[in-house]
Amino acid sequence: MGPSRELMGDKIRFVLNGEPIEVTGVSPQATLLEFLRDERRLTGTKEGCAEGDCGACTVVVAQRHGDGLAWKPINACIRLLPSVDGKAVFTVESLKSDDGALHPLQKALVECHASQCGFCTPGFAMSLFGLYKSARTPSTTDIHDALSGNLCRCTGYRPIVDAAKRMYALPPAQGWRAPGIAEDGTRVIGDDEKRMAAQLATLARDDSFEYAHDGGRWSAPRTPDALARACADRPDARIVAGTTDVGLWVTKELRDLVDMIYVGDVEALTAIHETTDGIEIGAAVTLTDAMPILDRHFPELHEAWQRFASVPIRNSATLAGNVANGSPIGDSMPALLALDARVVLRSVRGEREVPLDRFYPGYRKTALVPGEFVSAIRIPARTEGVLLRAYKISKRYDQDISSVFACFALAIETGVVRSARIGCGGVAATPVRARKTEAVLEGARWDDAQAERAAQTLHDEFVPIDDMRATAGYRRNVLANLMRRFRLETSGSKTITRVEALVLQT
Ligand SMILES: Cc1cc2nc3c(=O)[nH]c(=O)nc-3n(C[C@H](O)[C@H](O)[C@H](O)COP(=O)(O)OP(=O)(O)OC[C@H]3O[C@@H](n4cnc5c(N)ncnc54)[C@H](O)[C@@H]3O)c2cc1C
Ligand code: FES
Ligand code: FES
Repeated sequence: MGPSRELMGDKIRFVLNGEPIEVTGVSPQATLLEFLRDERRLTGTKEGCAEGDCGACTVVVAQRHGDGLAWKPINACIRLLPSVDGKAVFTVESLKSDDGALHPLQKALVECHASQCGFCTPGFAMSLFGLYKSARTPSTTDIHDALSGNLCRCTGYRPIVDAAKRMYALPPAQGWRAPGIAEDGTRVIGDDEKRMAAQLATLARDDSFEYAHDGGRWSAPRTPDALARACADRPDARIVAGTTDVGLWVTKELRDLVDMIYVGDVEALTAIHETTDGIEIGAAVTLTDAMPILDRHFPELHEAWQRFASVPIRNSATLAGNVANGSPIGDSMPALLALDARVVLRSVRGEREVPLDRFYPGYRKTALVPGEFVSAIRIPARTEGVLLRAYKISKRYDQDISSVFACFALAIETGVVRSARIGCGGVAATPVRARKTEAVLEGARWDDAQAERAAQTLHDEFVPIDDMRATAGYRRNVLANLMRRFRLETSGSKTITRVEALVLQT
């Protein structure tokens, strides 16, 4: 009998700029960016920060979606190479057509004088390509959102935003480079795209993808059972999803992640189930896919989700990864705490459900035991009469980590607070509920005087730390002011403008 497939290892198979390739001999923790630049000499894709912040490394990854493909810009600098197995990757080199003509988005960048030194330009081009594939008449806000993960030091953003508008006015690109949305708003799937989807179908695997090199290992099971078995067999392996946290451990902390188990290819975990009981978001669902569903049920939280990182990060990052990472400044957890979410944990022993407010025993600790993984996040159905708001406070509006995050959910019946749930981030060692403040509100009339009592309790409820994002005093003041803002906004007496919100934050 020959060596097992696990020891032999599979090849990483994907389509790069339209050409199918197979890769062996590189570390499983090599980033996609390293591979593109060092192995393929595709140096149009740049390395700026190597931490997902600047967008210079943006490429577009396409995956099968119905008959066609879903085209998503991502940050190649923190995406690990084996995770693109079975997918198609497009770099800036692929944008010009086969006869050498520039893509309309490139022509628009030239015509609008949207590039000076040019270092950021390939990244902007790929974010614009993602937009070209997903929208036909984007609003200025949509364009800002699409470009929120790209930084430019010299040109300034106005000409780049102009180019984003202009690209739709130019004669459209043809073939797979064509616009993804028709003028009537319907999705366009041309023959080239169908051919690419069929090509990707030939790369699909029924069995776990097992890749190994030089002592490093990457497993990508296809089913929850196979994932549970892998986690049971290798309890010390690192479970990875979008690697938007884990990627930085590699590029910034230079850690060796010898053994990794990837959840992103477990199809059952890419599902979102909506029932009358609530929403269940699988562990492999990206924030981009989760956001529209969450928006539908909880539209008040839209701005907070939109300010979570940037489009390319949200295209890779999962909600479960945010929860499992357990950062005290993670954005989803305060909102999920206020929504009374539960974390579904799975292992070979079966499934158990832990309320999120009991998931964090301490700083960056979770209730996960060895061999267990997060399989989903469950959010109960919205109850009638709930007042809901989430506020993210950070130094920059876009693409920044929170100094403080607060989410308020108050169920009001005939003017009285029936239940109160307040989730907070950035004020304790873990994401946390403000239980004392909740107690001040529950059973009381929801009026200005009670809201002020709650604000004062909230001010004193936590002992935050000073760090480079904010001082402890600032965090306490802001938290209290957010309660006041919540009262103003939900009592119908006032709509808070951006300027007033800034004043309340000081
Ligand atoms: C530029 C940038 C901006 C960011 N902005 C924000 C922001 O605004 N707000 C914010 O909250 N975060 C932000 N983040 C952090 C990050 O994007 C999120 O925490 C993200 O949700 C992590 O998900 P992931 O799928 O990438 O997880 P990964 O990086 O793959 O994993 C993160 C952690 O979760 C564990 N894990 C993942 N999936 C599972 C699972 N199914 N079961 C058990 N353990 C699991 C991993 O072992 C690891 O410990 C940012 C990151 C970057 C690089
Ligand atoms: S190099 Fe800066 S986001 Fe990747
Ligand atoms: S053109 Fe120089 S960084 Fe953008």
